[in-house]
Amino acid sequence: MDLMEYQAKELFARHGVPVTLGRVIEDAADAAAAAADLGGRVVVKAQVKTGGRGKAGGVKLAATPDEAVAKAGEILGMDIKGHTVRRVLLAPAADIAEEYYFSFLIDRANREYLCIASTEGGVEIEEVAHTDPDAIAKVTIDPVVGVDESKAAEIVTAAGFPDAAAPVVQRLWEVFIAEDASLVEVNPLVKLGDGSLEALDGKVTLDDNAAYRHPEHADFDDQAAADPLEAAAQAKGLNYVKLDGSVGIIGNGAGLVMSTLDVVAYAGTSDGVRPANFLDIGGGASAEVMANGLGIILSDPQVKSVFVNVFGGITACDAVANGIVQALELLGDQAGKPLVVRLDGNNVDAGRKILAKANHPLVTVADTMDDAAALAAAKGA
Ligand SMILES: Nc1ncnc2c1ncn2[C@@H]1O[C@H](COP(=O)(O)OP(=O)(O)OP(=O)(O)O)[C@@H](O)[C@H]1O
Ligand SMILES: [Mg+2]
Repeated sequence: MDLMEYQAKELFARHGVPVTLGRVIEDAADAAAAAADLGGRVVVKAQVKTGGRGKAGGVKLAATPDEAVAKAGEILGMDIKGHTVRRVLLAPAADIAEEYYFSFLIDRANREYLCIASTEGGVEIEEVAHTDPDAIAKVTIDPVVGVDESKAAEIVTAAGFPDAAAPVVQRLWEVFIAEDASLVEVNPLVKLGDGSLEALDGKVTLDDNAAYRHPEHADFDDQAAADPLEAAAQAKGLNYVKLDGSVGIIGNGAGLVMSTLDVVAYAGTSDGVRPANFLDIGGGASAEVMANGLGIILSDPQVKSVFVNVFGGITACDAVANGIVQALELLGDQAGKPLVVRLDGNNVDAGRKILAKANHPLVTVADTMDDAAALAAAKGA
């Protein structure tokens, strides 16, 4: 589970990481009182589970409570990479001297933990990694030893942080381990005018496999704040992730769906057409599952075309084809967008015959995955 910034900061506070919690509001009118309580000069920050909020105009400074209302009004309802802003965080404007990047994550390839830290924080760390790779320190962490005082000192020295950062590094490690996180990222971790440090932003991914150890984390799993489509998909047991493009994707098996995202992105390169979602309907592509999946994807207003890419295995292509036909019947007028279907594998001929016989005006059957991607991308432009 990914946390929003204000939730990550709540978690940080529980472990003694210096943060200012601020106020979360959903109605711009509430910004005046909240800003006044926080001292007048505040930063209004979109709370969405995606990065690059600042660049997208989702982080704005407000000098007065009235301005806070105006900025909150601008940011609430904004779309950031396909995520609608339903909440904003108001935080007192900090007196920033320097902005750093800091993260703990799992280095799966080396079976270790990794700390990535840089004094070139605030901006996109990916950019720094390209233009100035030496400015980024990577310190591996032995999972058995963890981050003790000497490791924290090593990290601070490698990164070029002030000494005052060492205890903060240890507190962040405590968050990472005690909360069973797979990512703890702070960008920016700032040095304030008085030399003290504060986490001004926070991104935390909690490991769902450890959820049973943390019943209190359930409070973070806030359906109201989640993307409504993701919430609907979760309720139906579908493996769905919303993305920001216009081509809806349905496939069976996570690997096939991921390659489908790749071929669609490749086919759409020249027109800037990209996948709208990840949706794996798993092994048993029954009519009901297909209808649920199509229903979710077609109700996304950003979707202009849908690519159904199924490889028949235990559930053969004829069953999948029947599933598609019945799903379209179930959906009726709701199914108002072009569908490109690619079937292959077990009983493919029977499957294609079923689709040809149904002759649904919205459905085009493509022979290969690349043909289907090109068609779906063209229809999604
Ligand atoms: N409380 C604050 N006071 C002053 N400036 C702030 C405050 N919070 C954020 N900022 C400024 O806004 C910039 C962007 O804020 P933040 O890091 O929270 O969002 P972001 O990086 O754009 O979002 P994301 O991390 O999701 O990409 C910071 O680098 C910092 O310069
Ligand atoms: Mg940030």
